[in-house]
Amino acid sequence: MTPHPTLAKHYASAAEKPAFVNQLFDAGAPHYDLVVDWGFLRSGAHYRRTTQLKHGLKPGDCLLDVACGTGLVAVEAAKILGTAANITCLDPSAGMLAVARTKLDARFVQGRAEALPFPDNSFDFLTMGYALRHVTDLETTFREYRRVLKPGGKLLILEVTKPAGGFAGVLFRIYFGRLYPALAQLFTRSREARAMMRYYWETMDACVPPAAVLEALRAAGLAAVRRDTALGLFSEYVGVKS
Ligand SMILES: C[S@@+](CC[C@H](N)C(=O)[O-])C[C@H]1O[C@@H](n2cnc3c(N)ncnc32)[C@H](O)[C@@H]1O
Repeated sequence: MTPHPTLAKHYASAAEKPAFVNQLFDAGAPHYDLVVDWGFLRSGAHYRRTTQLKHGLKPGDCLLDVACGTGLVAVEAAKILGTAANITCLDPSAGMLAVARTKLDARFVQGRAEALPFPDNSFDFLTMGYALRHVTDLETTFREYRRVLKPGGKLLILEVTKPAGGFAGVLFRIYFGRLYPALAQLFTRSREARAMMRYYWETMDACVPPAAVLEALRAAGLAAVRRDTALGLFSEYVGVKS
C-alpha cells in the first residue's frame, strides 16, 4: 500500500517518486531546521524527546533513526541515551545527512526505509519522524522495521495528520497549504524551502488515513500496534516485535 497516490504534478509514476523526493530534501536541507523550528512554534525538540521517553527509549538501547533528516529525532534520543554511540541514523538524502553529521557523533548510513542495510535483530528501538509519506510502500517498510528490530524491540513513528474535517481541517489547510510554504520562502529567501514545505502539505493532504497505517503495521507482523495522538494533529504510531 502506498502512503498516498502518485502526485502527477511532481512525478509521472511511482517509480520516479524517490528521485523527486531526494532532490527536494537535498535542496531544502540547509533551511530545514529553521523552517520546522518556527513552523511548529519551537515545540519540536521537546516533543521529539518526550515521545521517545514516553514510548520506552532508555539508556543502553541501540537505536535506529530512519529518515533522520538533519538529526532532529536523533539529537533528542542522544539526550535520553546519554550518548550517540548506540545511534544509527539512516536517510537517502546526502544533503540532510551532511547537516545531521555536524550535530552528533552517531553512525550515519545513506539508505532507504524500504531496504534497510542492516542484519536481522539489530536494534532495540526504531524511530521515524515525519517521513512516512515519503516511502514507496508501507507494508514493505514495516516488514523491514520488524526484521531489523530485536525480539521485544519497539517502533515509534511520528507524523502530522490532517484533521478529518470541520473547522480544524480548514485551519490546517490554510496554515500548511498556504501560509507555511509562503513564510518558509519569506524567512529563508529560498524557493527550495517553499517547495519542500508545499510538498509537505500535499503529501499530508493526500495521505491514507491512520486506520490504514495501523492495518499495514499489523499486516507486517508487528504486535501491540496503536496510535496515540496529541492535539488531534500529531500521531504516534507504535508497535513491538514480539
Ligand atoms: C520531513 S524530513 C524528517 C526529518 C526528521 N526525521 C525530523 O524529525 O524532522 C523527511 C526525511 O525523510 C527522508 N526520506 C525520504 N524518503 C525516504 C525513504 N524512502 N526512506 C527513508 N527516508 C526517506 C528525507 O530525505 C528527509 O530527510
